[in-house]
Amino acid sequence: MQRRSTVLLTGGSGMVGRNVLEHPAATEWNFLAPSSSELDLTCRDDVCRYMKARQPDVVVHAAGRVGGIQANMSAPVEFLVTNLDINRNVIMAAADAGVPRLLNLGSSCMYPRNAANPLREEMILSGELEPTNEGYALAKIVGARLCDYLRAERGLAYKTMIPCNIYGRHDKFSPEHSHLIPAVIHKLHRAKVEGARKVDVWGDGTARREFMYAGDLADAILRGLARFDTMPDTMNIGLGFDHSIDEYYRIVAKVLGWDGVFEHDTSRPVGMRQKLVSTERQVEWGWQAGTSLGDGVRITYEYFLSDYLK
Ligand SMILES: NC(=O)c1ccc[n+]([C@@H]2O[C@H](COP(=O)([O-])OP(=O)(O)OC[C@H]3O[C@@H](n4cnc5c(N)ncnc54)[C@H](OP(=O)(O)O)[C@@H]3O)[C@@H](O)[C@H]2O)c1
Repeated sequence: MQRRSTVLLTGGSGMVGRNVLEHPAATEWNFLAPSSSELDLTCRDDVCRYMKARQPDVVVHAAGRVGGIQANMSAPVEFLVTNLDINRNVIMAAADAGVPRLLNLGSSCMYPRNAANPLREEMILSGELEPTNEGYALAKIVGARLCDYLRAERGLAYKTMIPCNIYGRHDKFSPEHSHLIPAVIHKLHRAKVEGARKVDVWGDGTARREFMYAGDLADAILRGLARFDTMPDTMNIGLGFDHSIDEYYRIVAKVLGWDGVFEHDTSRPVGMRQKLVSTERQVEWGWQAGTSLGDGVRITYEYFLSDYLK
């Protein structure tokens, strides 16, 4: 695709969207990034009108009603219906307006709960979903399948990237909303400031998680724009390796300069033992994440100090 093409980025104010917009290669594209107050993606007529009026060359769909386990469990109807509406409206409005390319963002929650690791793209819809965020995952699967159908039926280049968990700048640090890395940063920062020598870790610390720096996901998305036609139709974006919960705590402690001790609370739930996506297709496509965990945590901590705590 030609540089300076017009890209409609949904979710431009979210964590993924902001990392895309602040990536150095973003200057090569002409981004339209309406906020939800400018364009409510749950309103079908507005989305169709916007798409027809602006005629983007490509859509990057990174908007969604996103939340943690508690929010998903307490409002499954909202997570299912809002995300179904958003995904359908964005993808069908693009198709009906004749937008030739669309990059849809999936999530690793689309994989069955009991699928063997590493999770390969063809395992989607091969088993039961994790019940705690089933509604959200169903809406994501519908979005990805709709892209498959539109490729087959209308010859549109509508593709899905399935990123592993991400962390980084513009992350959510409040205890009710944060994922593992921002939660550990917040907790160890407090321990450091308060002079605490002991910090609790839920579980025995051996469960494994794959977290990629958000700037690297932005890099994969921008490479996808530049080489759209070579990109696989459905492709995981991950690291190819994971770390134990204890390793994440140790690396965050090192970056923050906190040298206390961790106490494991094995009465607390830890969720799945492992969730690692296969990077076979991504490696074949020629892309790999470039930011080490230490560097990613350092940048995220700087963001936490300068933007979140300010
Ligand atoms: N974060 C992760 O670890 C991760 C991992 C894998 C995949 N993903 C996927 O990446 C995508 C973005 O995630 P994120 O972490 O960036 O989420 P986020 O920070 O919560 O951002 C969500 C974005 O969606 C927008 N949005 C929500 N409802 C909208 C509506 N009705 N109309 C218009 N815009 C609306 C929000 O706009 P407002 O702020 O204006 O409401 C915001 O820009 C999601 O599809 C998610 O599944 C995320």
